[in-house]
Amino acid sequence: MSGLITLRQTFAKVFGYGERGEELRIFFAPGRVNLIGEHTDFTGGYVLPAALTYGTWAVVHPRQDRKFRLASTSFAGMVEGDADKVVYQQADGWANYPKGVFNEFMRLGVRLSGYDILFDGNIPKGAGLSSSASIEMVTATALNQVEALGYTLVELTQLAQRAENQFVGVNCGIMDQFASGMGRAGHAVLLKCDTLVYRYVPLALGDYQLIITNSNKQRSLTESKYNQRRQECEEGVNILRKHLPGVVSLGNVSLEQWQEVQRYITPPEVYKRLDHVIHENNRTLASTIALETGDIQDFGQHMIQSHESLRDLFEVTGPELDTLFEEARQVEGCLGTRMTGAGFGGCTVSLVHREAVSTFETQVTLGYRGKTGLTPTFYLCDSGDGARELKGR
Ligand code: GLA
Repeated sequence: MSGLITLRQTFAKVFGYGERGEELRIFFAPGRVNLIGEHTDFTGGYVLPAALTYGTWAVVHPRQDRKFRLASTSFAGMVEGDADKVVYQQADGWANYPKGVFNEFMRLGVRLSGYDILFDGNIPKGAGLSSSASIEMVTATALNQVEALGYTLVELTQLAQRAENQFVGVNCGIMDQFASGMGRAGHAVLLKCDTLVYRYVPLALGDYQLIITNSNKQRSLTESKYNQRRQECEEGVNILRKHLPGVVSLGNVSLEQWQEVQRYITPPEVYKRLDHVIHENNRTLASTIALETGDIQDFGQHMIQSHESLRDLFEVTGPELDTLFEEARQVEGCLGTRMTGAGFGGCTVSLVHREAVSTFETQVTLGYRGKTGLTPTFYLCDSGDGARELKGR
């Protein structure tokens, strides 16, 4: 993004007004990278994501006629409609995310005035870095401010998740929207996904740097496999409940309890999924402590165990992510590496010594290309602030 002035000019080009002193307000919401705690959010467990500095901008001008026009710098065409008659339409593609947010506000009884909105973004698409959550969160934040609705950011993250679950029809957990809304520069967020209790964890990595590696394998089957994993976890919780009275989610099952009751989980798939989730919750808490006490090495070890568990037990990695993992591990100065996000393609996140970054990129590129024929892309991962209005130029 080349500055807020350029964004205003683009808005004016697209909508035919905006350069004569009309008030255009600009909002931003980031994508996220999950450091650890994968496939734990939908069972009430722990996650540790960080907001990125990559994200989605929205330039907003309210209208008084209850119509909306949505445009994006990444897609041709404009999606138009009535703010009080919002329906999902496959042909509207990306615009279903903001429309889903409109719809959620209306379900809360909010009367929307109508808007022209231009979206601009720099999150690589299909990489599992939550471009959709960032579109939802930037829309939710914008409407909340423009209409002076007074919802808290946490409430907006829940609203955005409902938009994705119920309007777009993707059955995700709360992690992506929460990270996009509540992220803080220089920090990750430890979140317990059933209670939404959270705390910020400083990313004081010393001589180490987080690097995101995009496998450039477009995610495929992600949605159907994701839903299948959710079902398997639910099946497991239903069995566990009979043996652990009072336990309603996997996020509240301790390792000791798991040891006692695991023998009751007889379907082998279900056993593996639960074994992953319960250990992953523990790794997430242990990683938080490692980060808080400056034990970067220990954090790296947890990342590696997390990937192995996602590969062997939760079975959501695939050959591309596994190859990136293996290649990264072999680089001297790489303390930890793992897939991040839903899996089946997308990205890994690695913890690499600052002086080893270029060796890391060269070595991983060579190895990965040799084995898969694909070329990876690297992003230095800086953690940024969550959804907000941008003031100034
Ligand atoms: C996707 C979902 C999240 C979470 C992750 C896996 O990113 O949107 O809610 O379940 O997968 O950890």
